[in-house]
Amino acid sequence: MKTLVELHGVGKTYVSARDGQRVQALDGIDFALRRGEFLTVVGPSGCGKSTLLSLIAGFNAPTQGSILFDGKPVTGPGPERGVMFQDYALFPWRTVLGNVEFGPFARGVATSERRRKAQQLIEVVGLTGFETRFPHELSGGMRQRCALARMLANDPTMWLMDEPLAAVDLQTRIILQDELLRLWGDADTGRERPTVMFVTHGIDEAVLLADRVLVLGRRPGRIKAVVDVDLPRPRDRQRSSLEMARLTDHIWSLIRDEAAQAISEETH
Ligand SMILES: Nc1ncnc2c1ncn2[C@@H]1O[C@H](COP(=O)(O)OP(=O)(O)O)[C@@H](O)[C@H]1O
Ligand SMILES: [Mg+2]
Repeated sequence: MKTLVELHGVGKTYVSARDGQRVQALDGIDFALRRGEFLTVVGPSGCGKSTLLSLIAGFNAPTQGSILFDGKPVTGPGPERGVMFQDYALFPWRTVLGNVEFGPFARGVATSERRRKAQQLIEVVGLTGFETRFPHELSGGMRQRCALARMLANDPTMWLMDEPLAAVDLQTRIILQDELLRLWGDADTGRERPTVMFVTHGIDEAVLLADRVLVLGRRPGRIKAVVDVDLPRPRDRQRSSLEMARLTDHIWSLIRDEAAQAISEETH
């Protein structure tokens, strides 16, 4: 399978503007994301998961090493890399429609075209009828659907998602996981799928969604393991549950000690 994103010796050290204190968030990351794969990223809190995502998104530059997207160095954000976060900052002063069509609007896409596209995406994520609502008038799950539609509006070839479902209730999360997989092309073998990097603290979620799980160790984040999830798609939660539980246990055993140490360092 072809590579979409290459990370070569990537490290990131933050330097506080206030007191000059340095925090090394990532160190020596060598990794290749395959085109069309669903990669999930897990690791103890503070290990650099969000940092890794923001480097690939181009919001932030690495302090060591280099990142290539489609063979070219990442120098900033781009519409081919769509982003979705946990408590997504939808624009509070824009309606659902206004939020979804923001990306195409910013890129100068003609009104009729971006409206048609936005309407279609609003339907895809099940928000038809809510076009004129503002974010504060929506439930958490609906806000995440809106953020998903907004991410998809630029037709990104890569989805960068940072704990996008962490803030919704369990039932909503299950529904949105299924929708996400459907949109990605879980049941669809013919077409080229987007390449996904999905950060989560839910190990079971990581296993359910992924082709591969990238396990980071505690700060400074290094790659602890890459675990293949070799289960047929579309996945049946019931039928795959034994194998998924086995993989979840395995990954949990890999990060348990790391997490315990990270917690003890945070509290001492
Ligand atoms: N903008 C920043 N300035 C300084 N330190 C930061 C910044 N962003 C993250 N960090 C620090 O870098 C480390 C990794 O953070 P982060 O990537 O958010 O981890 P994770 O998403 O795995 O919880 C943490 O110690 C965090 O405090
Ligand atoms: Mg994070």
